Amino acid sequence: MSGDNDGDVTAQLNARGDVAVVVPAAGAGVRLGPGAPKALRLLDGEPLLVHAIRRTASAPSVRMIVVAAPPADVDAVHALLSPVAPVVVVAGGAERQDSVAAALAVVPDDIGIVLVHDAARCLAPADLFERVAAAVREGADAVIPALPVVDTIKEVSADGTVLGTVDRSVLRAVQTPQGFRAPVLRAAHAAAADLHTDDAGAVEKLGRSVVCVPGSDFALKITRPLDLAVATHLLTLSS
Ligand code: CTP
Ligand code: MG
Repeated sequence: MSGDNDGDVTAQLNARGDVAVVVPAAGAGVRLGPGAPKALRLLDGEPLLVHAIRRTASAPSVRMIVVAAPPADVDAVHALLSPVAPVVVVAGGAERQDSVAAALAVVPDDIGIVLVHDAARCLAPADLFERVAAAVREGADAVIPALPVVDTIKEVSADGTVLGTVDRSVLRAVQTPQGFRAPVLRAAHAAAADLHTDDAGAVEKLGRSVVCVPGSDFALKITRPLDLAVATHLLTLSS
């Protein structure tokens, strides 16, 4: 296994770009049901990861992409993605944040903005990457794409009794890519003692502010089989 793909850590897209994108793709996809690791499952005949990287690479600000793959699949993922875009592939870890940390470790210090993007959000469009990167460039430490919550949300007890109705106007559903000033993300990962489900959560624990930009319906996360059906339909729409 070649941890940094024989030293091609200089694998570049747009040399004038100021953004590195870290792509955690090492999850098993348990909720999708039995089969290959989620990033390698097919959507319209192509692995989710291919869809994700094609869109990531088409964002003009992106200089470098680092993918964290299932450890057994590092070389296969590199071979799969090489025709799509120049990428560095590293072995992911047991938890998502371990995978992000492994990929972040090979991002050079001279790249000032790091986006973290789940391979499972494989239809996130290039303009979403640009919107997030632009907000970091304009001065934010951390930026998340977010959508209003459409369902009525209830707080319930362990036995299913409703305790109250939550004011959904102050709630947001959060997506990736999430964008960070690179030193802020590195500090958040170094300080993270507990598991976090998104990287902005680790930045919040540092006491730094995180700001929202509008998310995209196309950035839905493929989690359960129904999501694959929705994504198949979204592919027929322009994205
Ligand atoms: N991920 C990762 N390393 C892990 C776990 C998750 O890189 N150890 C990645 C997944 O590949 C995915 C993203 O983190 O792109 C979001 O995770 P999730 O949607 O939960 O994917 P899985 O963990 O694969 O799915 P499940 O929880 O159903 O097993
Ligand atoms: Mg998971």
